[in-house]
Amino acid sequence: MSQAQILIIDDEISMRQLLKYIFRSESYQITTVGFGKEALELIEKQPFDLIIQDMMLPDIEGIDLLNQIRALQKQAMVIVITAVVGWKTAVEAMRIGAFDYIRKPFNNDNIKAVVARALKYKAVLDSMSGRPIDGIHIIGNSPQIQQVQDIIRRAAPTDSTIIIHGESGTGKELVARALHLASLRRENVFIPVNCAAISETLLESELFGHLKGSFTNAIADKKGLFEVSNNGTLFFDEIGEMSLQTQVKLLRVLEYREFVPVGGTQPMQVDVRFITATNRNLEKEIEKGDFREDLYYRLNVIPIALPPLRERKEDIPLLAGHFLALYASRLHKYVTEISEEVMQLLLNYHWPGNIRELSNLIQRAIVLCEGNIIVKEDLGNYIQIENKKKEDFTYFPPEGVNLEGKLEELEKKYIVEALKITKGSLTNAAKLLNLSFRSLRYKVKKYKLET
Ligand SMILES: Nc1ncnc2c1ncn2[C@@H]1O[C@H](COP(=O)(O)OP(=O)(O)OP(=O)(O)O)[C@@H](O)[C@H]1O
Ligand SMILES: [Mg+2]
Repeated sequence: MSQAQILIIDDEISMRQLLKYIFRSESYQITTVGFGKEALELIEKQPFDLIIQDMMLPDIEGIDLLNQIRALQKQAMVIVITAVVGWKTAVEAMRIGAFDYIRKPFNNDNIKAVVARALKYKAVLDSMSGRPIDGIHIIGNSPQIQQVQDIIRRAAPTDSTIIIHGESGTGKELVARALHLASLRRENVFIPVNCAAISETLLESELFGHLKGSFTNAIADKKGLFEVSNNGTLFFDEIGEMSLQTQVKLLRVLEYREFVPVGGTQPMQVDVRFITATNRNLEKEIEKGDFREDLYYRLNVIPIALPPLRERKEDIPLLAGHFLALYASRLHKYVTEISEEVMQLLLNYHWPGNIRELSNLIQRAIVLCEGNIIVKEDLGNYIQIENKKKEDFTYFPPEGVNLEGKLEELEKKYIVEALKITKGSLTNAAKLLNLSFRSLRYKVKKYKLET
């Protein structure tokens, strides 16, 4: 974040001065006002990252002011200051969206920490808003995911049939919804149909509908999903599970945009956009005779391949930050950070359940987390065992890495290991490391290693 814009609202001049003094060494841009009305005028004109509000102002009720601030600037973090007697108000303030409260008299370091935490949390929220497609956040900066976003943008407004390939939890349904919302059909329905979850006989009547009396339990006419989704989008999830018999019928709908309800005689016209998804290799299914080749070519007009998470590890910090912000606010917990150690574990893990697994893991860690930072203990023993086997992945925290330090760490690790293997013999260890005796001795001294 560039210089954070902070507004302080307090009627006591000494308090305004004290707060300014406390933050003097931080790179904040601080504005102070003494009245609620004055504050609202400013807030209307200028965005603030953080607002510190005294709850006892001469001209306006604290809670009223907070409500108005929230209405004007939802993105601003608000910290309220209350007297000890105002404890109930503090709780109420949190309920309507204050980030935190501080009780008077306060400790300087305490208020500094709360402000820093609030600004960090805001940065996470801000980074979340990156390039939504009509309200759907497909998070990711990796070239693979950017390519996916690109295809979505280009293909969505056309009516072309799209097939989404991807392992479980890679975001197939999310992409299907994004395609619908970025299309001209967005005002109409999006209907997902899970082909694996519906039995063969039901699927047909679900899709095509039936007329009263067409079979024993058909006590009334029933509209099928094709009809219901007219002018909208129909999403066939796990299309590989559809029986050959239903495949034939679907092919017909795709070809002629018409269908006949079960028990009916008259074909009905429909205008539906088809999106399908599968985690199977349909070409293999075709070879085995389990999937119709002609249907496959109809469905495979624009393919979108969603890469597994382990192939785009650079997206892990972004996604983790996204889920952190999402679930922390849903669970009403002020967990704002993931420790570097945990991030390293997340980066090294191979994510068989992909993004859904990451999402579940972060949610659980937030529940278990007792402070503001997710630490290793909050993960349970979930991915730590797995991690032992995985390769190291290079992670760049926002402040950059200390390359020299990292190299020294690595050097030290090798030397310690070599000395262990050679039972402390410098001569043999030097051989293992392809170093001269002298240069190894120098390094051993430098790192104060035991031999
Ligand atoms: N790029 C992404 N950014 C943000 N959230 C994502 C992203 N990809 C997936 N998700 C989230 O991960 C979860 C799993 O995604 P989704 O249900 O779309 O996967 P799927 O491929 O359909 O999985 P399955 O094959 O198991 O049905 C959802 O909660 C979804 O919102
Ligand atoms: Mg799915």
